[in-house]
Amino acid sequence: MNLLIMGPPGAGKGTQAEKLIKQLDITHISTGDMFRNAIKEGTEMGKKAKEFIDQGNLVPDEVVVGMVKDRLSQSDCEKGFLLDGFPRTLDQAKALDQTLASLGIKLDGVVNISVPREKLMERLTGRRICRDCGASFHVIFNKPKEEGKCDSCGGELYQRSDDNEESVGKRLDVYTQETQPLIDYYKEKGLLADINGDQEITSVLNDILAALKK
Ligand code: AP5
Ligand code: MG
Ligand code: ZN
Repeated sequence: MNLLIMGPPGAGKGTQAEKLIKQLDITHISTGDMFRNAIKEGTEMGKKAKEFIDQGNLVPDEVVVGMVKDRLSQSDCEKGFLLDGFPRTLDQAKALDQTLASLGIKLDGVVNISVPREKLMERLTGRRICRDCGASFHVIFNKPKEEGKCDSCGGELYQRSDDNEESVGKRLDVYTQETQPLIDYYKEKGLLADINGDQEITSVLNDILAALKK
């Protein structure tokens, strides 16, 4: 199964992706995680991307599109993939269509998670993520078993540098302007599954799995 997961910052894309890839045995491709890894490794691309990310802006399309194209041609994507955080602009969506066509791959579905905007700020400012595997936790809504430690791999939890009120505000505005129009793009293609993300994490997961069976 080849899927996209969409939704505003804090909607729960990463949280659901972690569970979905296990259940469906597909590969998780998160462009945000790829950038954070590049930053951690200190690559040139990482250094450039960090400026955009910390301000809550999008990294330029040409950088992201090339990175995703390379990633999709790797062999672990043959069993299926879940793209998280890409595409985020109409140009990225069109570039993805071209890339998939050239690789002879078709998209099976697009999961769109909706959460009221006023809930997103508290989800993001209370989020903690694992330095090693990228798993998301929350100081109130999704506490790790042991404070400061990842449940899956034992890695150290930290707060993302773009999870402050100023960057989050900007990210939400950028989402509304650049990414929200993609909902109609995929609706017109008949691929969209609309999911209510304002419920317990397990209920959101069950709704997604039910929608994918249809
Ligand atoms: P990215 O890492 O993709 O960030 P984002 O889109 O802002 O989304 P988040 O990761 O913040 O939210 P999420 O939906 O994954 O939520 P999560 O599951 O963690 O991108 C970061 C930056 O990289 C971008 O701003 C941009 O600069 C750049 N970038 C990336 N891709 C790009 C692209 N394609 N083009 C250009 N630039 C790009 O959950 C959030 C919190 O809520 C957690 O604490 C979680 O525990 C909690 N939570 C989850 N579900 C629930 C629930 N049901 N109830 C209560 N709490 C919940
Ligand atoms: Mg995420
Ligand atoms: Zn971890």
